[in-house]
Amino acid sequence: MTDEIIKVKTIGVLTSGGDSPGMNAAIRAVVRAASQAGIKVYGIKHGYYGLINEEFTELDAHSVSNIIQRGGTILKSARSEEFRTEEGRRKAAENLKKYDIDALIAIGGDGTFTGANKLSKEFKFNVVGIPATIDNDIIGTDETIGYDSALNTALDAIDKIRDTADAHERMFLVEVMGRDTGFIALETGIASGAELALLPEELTHVEDVKRQLHDMLKSQRRSSLVVVAEGDETGGAVKLKENIQDDFAQYDVRVCILGHIQRGGAPTARDRVLASRLGAAAVKVLLEGHSEVMVGVVNNSLKITPMRVAISKKKELDHTLIDLAKILR
Ligand code: F6P
Repeated sequence: MTDEIIKVKTIGVLTSGGDSPGMNAAIRAVVRAASQAGIKVYGIKHGYYGLINEEFTELDAHSVSNIIQRGGTILKSARSEEFRTEEGRRKAAENLKKYDIDALIAIGGDGTFTGANKLSKEFKFNVVGIPATIDNDIIGTDETIGYDSALNTALDAIDKIRDTADAHERMFLVEVMGRDTGFIALETGIASGAELALLPEELTHVEDVKRQLHDMLKSQRRSSLVVVAEGDETGGAVKLKENIQDDFAQYDVRVCILGHIQRGGAPTARDRVLASRLGAAAVKVLLEGHSEVMVGVVNNSLKITPMRVAISKKKELDHTLIDLAKILR
């Protein structure tokens, strides 16, 4: 809680960092919940870049109609080098003051929260974070907005690749997003019945990968599918192919990188509901006097986590799921 509870009359909302499906649903919920409470809302375009360059636009309940089902973000997203500097943050704080904005709701991942936290500390500004990233790597919430949609987009693609892998009796190395964490790789690996899922969190020796694939292919299998997180230490699917193809020449090893397809598309029902809950919750906690916090949902209940905790480390994978993937392959 802040020392002094301010009467919030005007808030700003922005999306920052990598976009994720459901960001629009979160913006809509923030705007509608704030309007209900008689609070004026400014949407800030292009994240922190727009905060520094005064890209403010007033939003009302009507202006967020017909966006809950859309991927991307109507507020656009950007990465701002200038906001990493104190001078940049000073300009941002001056603009917030100029528009009489009392508090900021920042929708994004850990980079977004790190910026918001600094702004709050340096310029005594109230901020609340809403976790939205396909990586699902934020602690203080069971899932981040966009993760479920990205998971299902990736799974749909992997199922299709499995069909063609099976038809041609090939080996496919499918690379999914996840620079630092393997949530998408682990869960798509389990859900698609992949032979292996390679995760940044686990040490991967190429020789072990080869041995495990040889063992599996000795049995009845004629095709195989390996899900590789982009941040896996084998260096990703392209590098892995270079290192294993000579040993599996008869399987005509192929690579498919799913890339940014995982970030787009309509949010799933689960992401829309999560984003709606968190958008409304962010407004509520601001009105209760909280600042420098992130809202999340843990065990189906709203949870408030200090931002400094949310950015202190990455969420860990569930080790029982890692074991399960090994048992079931
Ligand atoms: O949003 C997170 C993420 O999807 C990472 O998994 C990935 O490494 C990164 O974004 C890619 O971001 P960019 O848009 O800069 O290519």
